[in-house]
Amino acid sequence: MNEGIRHPAARLAIEADDLDVFAVSLDAPEDVRARLWSHLSPEERQNAETFVFPEHQQRYVVGRGMLRELLAPRLGIPPGAIEFIGNAYGKPRLADVHRAAELNFNVSHSGSLALYAFCRDRDVGVDVELMREIEDADDLAERFFSPAEAAALAALPADQKSLAFLACWTRKEAFIKAIGLGLSCPLDAFDVSLDPEAPARLLRIDPSIDSVSSWSMQGFRPRDGYIAAVAHRPRGLVSQDRLAASSAD
Ligand SMILES: CC(C)(COP(=O)(O)OP(=O)(O)OC[C@H]1O[C@@H](n2cnc3c(N)ncnc32)[C@H](O)[C@@H]1OP(=O)(O)O)[C@@H](O)C(=O)NCCC(=O)NCCS
Repeated sequence: MNEGIRHPAARLAIEADDLDVFAVSLDAPEDVRARLWSHLSPEERQNAETFVFPEHQQRYVVGRGMLRELLAPRLGIPPGAIEFIGNAYGKPRLADVHRAAELNFNVSHSGSLALYAFCRDRDVGVDVELMREIEDADDLAERFFSPAEAAALAALPADQKSLAFLACWTRKEAFIKAIGLGLSCPLDAFDVSLDPEAPARLLRIDPSIDSVSSWSMQGFRPRDGYIAAVAHRPRGLVSQDRLAASSAD
């Protein structure tokens, strides 16, 4: 953990070259929130003011402020000097002024936890979910997962469905966030493994979108009560089609 960060940001051991993943509690004390607020841009402060519930506003401030504090030592500049832009699908990245650092990141939050992934020269996506009972897991899987994933979930005993559903969900979200398309990527165009105790894998992807071979995926538990996944691939392995699409970002 960086010495400059006086906050319980837990670094997680993820086996991949140059990939750092941090879990941060969004419920920070007032002095920490004040420090993090001081890093925010005018636009971020304006966004923070739009939250109706103070708890949501505070978590937004901590989430954005911590992103800046985790990026700052990697860029060698103060947290408040960092500039972001979004791609055509809303994926935030560092503005071109920071291009020399070749640093990519992705963020997810659920409940009171934020998850951050940082890497160089890789596309990366993370997703975290609070572990909870999913009452209508099979119905949701029929609607949102691929046919192979929905069938794999349907075959599981009832007491394993909720966790398997969340494992599949986090893996799918990590992938659509890594590729940068968000929900513009059809969720039935690719399959992931869904057994929470087995390695997370991208098993199939429609060739019109990408190829499986370049992608790595890990599933993990960043904190008690949370399940998460990270997907990533070296930028050099991006297909020419995707490079053309992302250059339009
Ligand atoms: C980005 C998205 C894919 C995930 O959002 P989410 O799961 O609700 O929220 P998360 O906390 O995991 O991620 C939000 C963060 O992702 C990042 N993000 C936004 N758009 C993104 C994109 N296209 N690609 C990658 N990351 C993106 C942002 O940093 C955002 O944080 P911010 O709002 O504080 O800026 C969003 O498009 C979405 O609406 N998802 C809906 C959930 C769903 O139906 N999933 C089905 C999966 S089976």
